[in-house]
Amino acid sequence: MLQLPNVVGHRGAAAYAPENTLDSFREAKRRGATWIELDVKTSRDGVPIVMHDESLKRTTGVDRLVIDTDRADLPAGVPTFAEAIACLGELGLGCNVEIKPCPGREAATARAAVETLRQCWPPHLPAPLLSSFKDASLAIARQEAPEYARALLLGEQVPDWLARAQAVGAVCLNVSGRKLGALWAHDIKRAGYRLGVYTINDPVEARALVAMGADCIITDAPDVILDALAASIPPP
Ligand code: G3P
Ligand code: MG
Repeated sequence: MLQLPNVVGHRGAAAYAPENTLDSFREAKRRGATWIELDVKTSRDGVPIVMHDESLKRTTGVDRLVIDTDRADLPAGVPTFAEAIACLGELGLGCNVEIKPCPGREAATARAAVETLRQCWPPHLPAPLLSSFKDASLAIARQEAPEYARALLLGEQVPDWLARAQAVGAVCLNVSGRKLGALWAHDIKRAGYRLGVYTINDPVEARALVAMGADCIITDAPDVILDALAASIPPP
């Protein structure tokens, strides 16, 4: 059973700390988040690591592709997925694990991620939610570890969104807030899916999306959005 909170810290608390780092997860916790989102891809030698881009350049300054870099040669501060999970265990944070494969590694990245989850996920934490833009990764996750709930990530409303969600056995859709309108939100909810929205840092926008039916706001600034949603609950 998916216990999704109404606010998830994007890449930790990316508004306040370097994204997808242990510091960012700690910052998310300090700012009140109960869950974070992180991105998993694999190093050249197949180790699942936490990194958003295909290149290390933007976040670490090292001008090299992840797919060309062994785990042992990663710049300092890039956590392995196992290190990130251990940190979440210490902090007591749940996790939306985005499977974000380097090109051609859709299946291998999903396999590596779920294998690590099976080995390392702390039993005292709520079960993670696996998400991906890649249907192939979600299909492998379903095959290898059906016990983990899945969310299909969509950057826009595509005609076959429902068929794709059904095909990978998703229970949730995580969609771009820039492309979510009231009609699509209504259709998603009517079809029985949980609805996550990324990446929302504006309090007014967050409240509007919740009014539209969003169950979960994925944000770089969890403190801001937690305050916004708490303020929107009328007093008893
Ligand atoms: O999982 C939500 C969001 O992280 C998806 O987009 O590019 O920020 O990984 P991106
Ligand atoms: Mg992501």
